[in-house]
Amino acid sequence: MQIEIRSLSYIYNPKTPFGKLALDDISLDVEEGDFFGIIGHTGSGKSTLVSHINALTRVQLKYNKNAVLKVCGIDLCAKKPDVKTLREKVGMVFQYPEYQLFADTVRQDVGFGPKNLGLGEAETEERVRAAVARVGLDYDEIAERSPFELSGGQKRRVAIAGVIAMRPEVLILDEPTAGLDPEGKKELLALFKRLQREACPTVVMVSHNMDEVAECCNKVAVMNEGKIAGVFSPRELFTRRELIKGMGMEMPSVTELAYYLAEGGVPVDPSCLTESELVDGLLNIYSGGDK
Ligand SMILES: Nc1ncnc2c1ncn2[C@@H]1O[C@H](COP(=O)(O)OP(=O)(O)OP(=O)(O)O)[C@@H](O)[C@H]1O
Ligand SMILES: [Mg+2]
Repeated sequence: MQIEIRSLSYIYNPKTPFGKLALDDISLDVEEGDFFGIIGHTGSGKSTLVSHINALTRVQLKYNKNAVLKVCGIDLCAKKPDVKTLREKVGMVFQYPEYQLFADTVRQDVGFGPKNLGLGEAETEERVRAAVARVGLDYDEIAERSPFELSGGQKRRVAIAGVIAMRPEVLILDEPTAGLDPEGKKELLALFKRLQREACPTVVMVSHNMDEVAECCNKVAVMNEGKIAGVFSPRELFTRRELIKGMGMEMPSVTELAYYLAEGGVPVDPSCLTESELVDGLLNIYSGGDK
């Protein structure tokens, strides 16, 4: 088990009139090989939850007497958890990661993490090159440029390269495609899927975008008011239209289209998750079942 969470709660501003129970008795398992989605309306506790996974937010031991939070074998409910090792194993891409760029050149920015791991010049350089190539940028063209003079999409890729260069075992993505254009979103998702296949087998992705969740994730946790309302496969989840709509979220656009076609009498499967599934279903009908 890569991530094990039992009975985890978190209160912002405890013992003040502004106290807010942001996580309420959360239990969750993420296994190696999962592309694990976390969805839920704004303020439901998604970021608070994932920021526990790399110990950016510490477990409030006082309010979590029976809680378990183990990530890559590291016990984060211990009095002094091994946060250094944890951060080597868990890479975190925050919402709008480009705001965290800081160095004079792309090479320095991406190399900051590996250098801090104590790696030598040559190995750091090799990791930076590989990470920059992985995010689809041309190293020779970009390495000596300031990250601040790049386009928004390029900046985000540089920030992600900095996380990838650490070669994490688990990658946490908090709304990784927010604010990008449709093409940029598509490219970034393809990048994460490839990365999971080739280098980092476990990915946890917070998303508001149900198309992305349907396309990438094998499991999806739904959060509502600090609680887990359920963990589903995307197909199970998106047949629960009422649950999704009731929590103020959208269905994947292709599932919504299939639903309306089915409702209008076209005999397609209303739980289609991808464009190709829907197209195949339609071809099957209109070619008289030949396909
Ligand atoms: N630093 C903070 N101080 C006080 N309350 C906070 C703080 N950060 C978050 N909260 C509150 O905790 C709850 C959960 O917030 P969180 O950011 O985890 O939600 P989220 O699901 O990530 O939302 P979004 O989809 O908008 O990113 C919200 O009610 C939020 O207002
Ligand atoms: Mg958030």
